[in-house]
Amino acid sequence: MRHFEGKVAIITGAGRGIGRDAALLMASEGASVVVNDLGGGPQGGGGDTSFAQQVVSEIEAAGGTAVAETSSVASMEGGKAVVQCAMDTYGRLDFLINNAGIIRPKRITDMSEEDFDNVLNVNLKGYFATMREGAQYLKRQGGAIVNMSSPSGFGHLGMANYSAAKEGVVGLTRSVARELGEFGVRCNAVRPMSQGSAMAIPEVFETITYQTQTLGIPHLANQWLMTHGLETAPHSVAAVMAWLCSPLSENINGREVYICGAQVALVQEPELIRNQFMSGGWTWEGMCDPMVTNALTYDVRNRYTGKN
Ligand SMILES: NC(=O)c1ccc[n+]([C@@H]2O[C@H](COP(=O)([O-])OP(=O)(O)OC[C@H]3O[C@@H](n4cnc5c(N)ncnc54)[C@H](O)[C@@H]3O)[C@@H](O)[C@H]2O)c1
Repeated sequence: MRHFEGKVAIITGAGRGIGRDAALLMASEGASVVVNDLGGGPQGGGGDTSFAQQVVSEIEAAGGTAVAETSSVASMEGGKAVVQCAMDTYGRLDFLINNAGIIRPKRITDMSEEDFDNVLNVNLKGYFATMREGAQYLKRQGGAIVNMSSPSGFGHLGMANYSAAKEGVVGLTRSVARELGEFGVRCNAVRPMSQGSAMAIPEVFETITYQTQTLGIPHLANQWLMTHGLETAPHSVAAVMAWLCSPLSENINGREVYICGAQVALVQEPELIRNQFMSGGWTWEGMCDPMVTNALTYDVRNRYTGKN
């Protein structure tokens, strides 16, 4: 018995990269798949509608069932159209995998309003758009939502728009999980690393090199990424996405899973640390107490000056 026999999955941005591998895997496990992809460039725009159809052809050649859908999920209309395609074609929705993404790497001083809005629209609003429309159908019989976040959400020089969107995805995920849990719908986020991405453009590597080589600071909050020579294939990420759809992960809800090649991990939820208390609430005078500053900052340093 295959894991997703009789189930229906939507996967956005599934025309290539991680989404493509997820579509192939879900279909090989019996799911009927809506392969959404507008066929855009890594920084947005474009529009090669053959991407989605190519993946559908691959699925069908392997004996699976899929339909191509080429709306942009960056708008409410697009999100609605993707969900409507699943309902019109297969009459139900069990899994919603929000995977579409774009980047526009720029320093904050150079980032235009359009750079910010376009990245937020695809990577964050687009996830809201499909969930807003799809939740009513997922609630009918239960199911799972998987939202693609990124390690860049931990903080990434030159990617403020993308970091904001991907960290927004985590908050969105935690809240939707709380809303749909009682209806048997789980909602989780994935922070992947994967080679073979159309987003692996020179500007991204420039941001990483500047952080690690010029400033000598970690690329991510507490990690110094060295993936060279390591296998971080999209099929590893797809395996985790499928696992998050399956009952194998039934206890995982409103969580984040990190996946980078050989390593898969549950991400620690944010914790309040070094707690200080003042009855009646904190005042400026209270905050000026050297003991308080010492308690909050002991052994902590500004990591990002590049002068360590
Ligand atoms: N590859 C990595 O290392 C990595 C790391 C962190 C996060 N991610 C995230 O994982 C997801 C998949 O990344 P990938 O590396 O496979 O990217 P990719 O660029 O190879 O594929 C993304 C796909 O999304 C599609 N797309 C873009 N905008 C769209 C829109 N508005 N509507 C529909 N489709 C759209 C593109 O046409 C493309 O085919 C993205 O959300 C990305 O941000 C990837």
